[in-house]
Amino acid sequence: MITKVLMVCLGNICRSPLAEGVLQSKVDSEKVFVDSAGTAGYHIGNQPDKRSIAVARKYGLDISQQRCRKFDVQDFTNFDRIFVMDQSNYENVIAQTKNEAEKDKVRLLLSEGDSTIIEVPDPYYGGEDGFESVFQMIDNACEAIAAELDTK
Ligand code: 4NP
Repeated sequence: MITKVLMVCLGNICRSPLAEGVLQSKVDSEKVFVDSAGTAGYHIGNQPDKRSIAVARKYGLDISQQRCRKFDVQDFTNFDRIFVMDQSNYENVIAQTKNEAEKDKVRLLLSEGDSTIIEVPDPYYGGEDGFESVFQMIDNACEAIAAELDTK
């Protein structure tokens, strides 16, 4: 059976598109489906931020075909695991759950891997450096998720 994983941030143009591309690159697409969404609808239909596209390209990934969409409660049914980037995304998503089973699907991305910090910081208003460090945090967490999913 295919495991469906959703990556969630605020805008779905900086962090979660990177997480989608990075995790998908580490798993067998016949076993794991990855998508991403934002809790806000500011950028629906847009490409990822140019700085996310650039840092992904630097590491050999093309995320330019992704398009922004808003998180929807239907995602609790459609996905098995939902990874959020920060505490604010976590609270937003948890507030939309209807039961414990839905709550159980939601985790902070950096609870996976060996990060000492718990949130992937929002890089939108910062410089290019922010995107590099965000990429590294996401990559580390996705390595752990991919290893876990591979054993299924
Ligand atoms: P993201 O970053 O949540 O990582 O996609 C942001 C993108 C856009 C905005 C905020 C955060 N915005 O306010 O438009």
